[in-house]
Amino acid sequence: MTLRSLLFVPGDSPRKLAKGDAAGADALILDLEDSVAPENKAGARPLVSAYLAERPRGARATELWVRINPLDSGYALADLAAVVAGDPDGIMIPKADGPAEVRRLSHYLDALEVQAGLEPGSVGILPVATETAAAPFRLGDYAGAGLTRLRGLTWGAEDLSAAVGASTNLDPEGGWAFTYRLARSLTLLAAHAAGVQAIETLHVDFSDEAGLRESCRRARAEGFTGRIAIHPAQVRPINESFTPSVAEADHARRVVAAFAATPGVGVVGLDGKMLDMPHLKQAHAVLAAWTAFTTGDRADE
Ligand code: COA
Ligand code: MG
Repeated sequence: MTLRSLLFVPGDSPRKLAKGDAAGADALILDLEDSVAPENKAGARPLVSAYLAERPRGARATELWVRINPLDSGYALADLAAVVAGDPDGIMIPKADGPAEVRRLSHYLDALEVQAGLEPGSVGILPVATETAAAPFRLGDYAGAGLTRLRGLTWGAEDLSAAVGASTNLDPEGGWAFTYRLARSLTLLAAHAAGVQAIETLHVDFSDEAGLRESCRRARAEGFTGRIAIHPAQVRPINESFTPSVAEADHARRVVAAFAATPGVGVVGLDGKMLDMPHLKQAHAVLAAWTAFTTGDRADE
């Protein structure tokens, strides 16, 4: 299932955890990493594992993911040992250095799933794939790495700028500096090469709804299919932005109809414009997303 919005919830905050169900996100990411101070790590694990246990997978309105600490942080194994029995939909792995590290996580999950009596391979993986200096060079290697648990790739600028000793990750106009635009574009390409979701990074100013909507619009137009949220107020704008509009769905139907009307032809004209196979493929993708998001229990009310 495509995840449009993935809302971070600090795993040590009962108050915020309690707000998760009503946020309307396609997924929550129960966080054990950067939003939890070292002295609270041990206390957050039982909160997150109880939260999962109280919401069995079949009864979840929203997917439940857990962001563990980095594999070499000294916390990760205790994180996994605490949460896998709760049958999370997936694990987000921060500061992932590349596919080899994701494979290591996958092996841990192989064992923990058996121990917990879960279906083998049922816990997905979402790496934050640009948070070390080496990571961006390995993005292309996710395709063909045989990582069957991989659900998507996402990127982050804050840890990458810290990793390279940068005092800013912005350009003089306030957009991402080139290094971060590069990491973002490589993430987009790597995700599509691997056949998984390309997930846009967070919009840090959670009171700026107009700016969030505009940057979601651009991200989706470029091929991202979902986005990280850090505040409940960001969920609706993100869900709406990553759902095709009525006009887009209508246009996609007309494109499909135009090809259907001329069987065996690779190129047609519509509204004075040439359409060929990439346009048809895009129209099918829009209609698939439209159907997924506007029918059943995931339709926005
Ligand atoms: N998940 C669930 N509930 C949240 C939430 C979140 N991510 N962010 C805020 N809320 C709740 C607040 O608890 C508050 O409810 P309350 O009044 O009952 O306590 C309500 O939504 C409004 O919050 P608001 O006052 O606008 O924000 P805040 O100052 O309490 O929190 C942040 C701001 C940034 C600290 C908070 O949004 C947050 O913790 N975000 C997630 C951070 C994170 O996980 N980062 C890691 C990834 S980078
Ligand atoms: Mg971080």
